[in-house]
Amino acid sequence: MKQNDYPEVNLSAWSKVGEGGNGTTYENPAYPDMLLKLNNAHSNQLEPVKQEFDRSVAVSRLGLPTPAMYQIVRVGDAYASLSERIRDKKSLSRICHDEPQRTEEMARLLARLGRQLADTPCDTSYFPNRKEQALQAVDSARILNKKTRAKIRAYIETLPDSTGCSHGDFQPGNVILSGGQCYWIDLGRFAYGAPLFDIGHLYMVCQVYAPMKQVQDIFHMSLEQFHRFWDAFATEYTGSEDHARFDRLAGKHAAIDVLLRPIFQKPSFLEKIFLDIYAIKLVRQYFAD
Ligand SMILES: Nc1ncnc2c1ncn2[C@@H]1O[C@H](COP(=O)(O)OP(=O)(O)O)[C@@H](O)[C@H]1O
Ligand SMILES: [Mg+2]
Repeated sequence: MKQNDYPEVNLSAWSKVGEGGNGTTYENPAYPDMLLKLNNAHSNQLEPVKQEFDRSVAVSRLGLPTPAMYQIVRVGDAYASLSERIRDKKSLSRICHDEPQRTEEMARLLARLGRQLADTPCDTSYFPNRKEQALQAVDSARILNKKTRAKIRAYIETLPDSTGCSHGDFQPGNVILSGGQCYWIDLGRFAYGAPLFDIGHLYMVCQVYAPMKQVQDIFHMSLEQFHRFWDAFATEYTGSEDHARFDRLAGKHAAIDVLLRPIFQKPSFLEKIFLDIYAIKLVRQYFAD
């Protein structure tokens, strides 16, 4: 399809319904079952939009619950996607905000959904291999010296070659709940690989990024709630209240998660500085021995 073949949508008839770290979603009363997702300027060109769209279609082919994807459209110079709008939905993070007493329940739900996800066989002929992405990320991380790079590489090599699903942005804002049904959303980084990659990302959000006000605003959650969420998640996931070992493993994968970021999306100059600072800190903390 040529770039001009995508239909043009005029955003003035649409109103904002949701916001995530990457984009904004809109609804239009004339099309009540549709949702338009417009990414921020750094990822609103055809390639990233098409990647997220195509991967979402492929995820629904795996039998996982996810909103149906309809089509890619143009919004001025940018591209956006139209998908099924899930009515009366709330993300797990929104539920944590509205009903803080349900924080632990939401964390346990995410742990169970995460297990199901990892147990779902992925389409390895279509989706990328997370382990390969991680090795590539380590090889291209200029901030690491040769010895540290070799150490992290050796650790990643020990991970099982799992062909289960890996979300890539596994956190409570990316599961929405409606009428008792959960849906996975935000599937642009979907891949196959060991569940620890997703767990490392969640640890990053709940334990490393959580003190940042901007992060608390995006998730509508307080620092204390992020910590409660992690504790309940880890307890459910490991089946034990003593999850210190699991936390250290999750920390190792949080370091890998930061290193992976540039593989998903080229960071701006400032983002690169920010990511490098976290990468250095986490690598020192979790790959010291
Ligand atoms: N299909 C959908 N139906 C209803 N709401 C949705 C749907 N997809 C996303 N949303 C809402 O939009 C928000 C942002 O969507 P998301 O795809 O996670 O964007 P981002 O990439 O910015 O994180 C979600 O938290 C959710 O509230
Ligand atoms: Mg999201």
